[in-house]
Amino acid sequence: MSRNPMVVRTVPALRRTLDGLRARKARVALVPTMGALHDGHLSLVRLARKRAEKVVVSIFVNPTQFAPTEDFGSYPRTWKADVEKLAAERVELIWHPDVKTMYPEGFATRISPEGPAVAGLEDRFRPHFFGGVATVVGKLFTQVRPDVAIFGEKDFQQLRVVTQMARDLDLGVKVIGSRTVRERDGLAMSSRNVYLSAEERRIAPTLYKTMKASAANIRSGEAIAAALAAGGQTIAAAGFVLDYLEARHAETLAPIGSLKDGPVRMLVAARPGTTRLIDNIAV
Ligand code: PAF
Repeated sequence: MSRNPMVVRTVPALRRTLDGLRARKARVALVPTMGALHDGHLSLVRLARKRAEKVVVSIFVNPTQFAPTEDFGSYPRTWKADVEKLAAERVELIWHPDVKTMYPEGFATRISPEGPAVAGLEDRFRPHFFGGVATVVGKLFTQVRPDVAIFGEKDFQQLRVVTQMARDLDLGVKVIGSRTVRERDGLAMSSRNVYLSAEERRIAPTLYKTMKASAANIRSGEAIAAALAAGGQTIAAAGFVLDYLEARHAETLAPIGSLKDGPVRMLVAARPGTTRLIDNIAV
């Protein structure tokens, strides 16, 4: 039988518990999440287990990365199921602070990331997002002081922002990206997929299929701009409102005109209805 992870909710309790976990110089990996855990998150936990002796998962739905018009209130919260899944993975510790612990009365400091955070991708549509993510992840890193932290490649711009932040602020944590986990039909796993109607779910894999086809065309010599224009048309014809389909330098996220200036990452964001889907692949 799997043992339930320890759950801590205050910073002093977190520090005490971590001191115990670090005995005999055990390395600590952090997997930051907002809960509503699916197989994609569990793959992050498994990678964390390979990289460290002790695994800490944070579950905190971070209000500062949601705009007032977004789904903070209705974001799926599945605490009991999350704990069961983490127990089955033998996670040692769940860090589960409440909003007042993370943002106490009078909280007045915010990290304002630049570089990949202002690349003109997600930031164009969710200008509040990366400031909120960088601030909360900066806090999680200083609270837990992990040796490594694992983030999904599915949120590729987020991965680049957090990697840059850890480097720029000398946070002493190695940020590791983990491969996107997909449903059998190619849809990238996401906690927000539960919002999709049956029809939206049916067309959702178009994003991955189209990116794969466009990437193959680019590799066989088609100009990047032409491949993206055709891919965008396919996505729109399937019934999406397309926010962007872009090819960027995989490290800097700067626009890129040719494969030889790579490595190249293709990134997409589109709405099959009210839910916004994002995905990306290497070209
Ligand atoms: O990717 C997420 O789930 C969140 O953006 C994160 C990194 C846990 C910060 O709240």
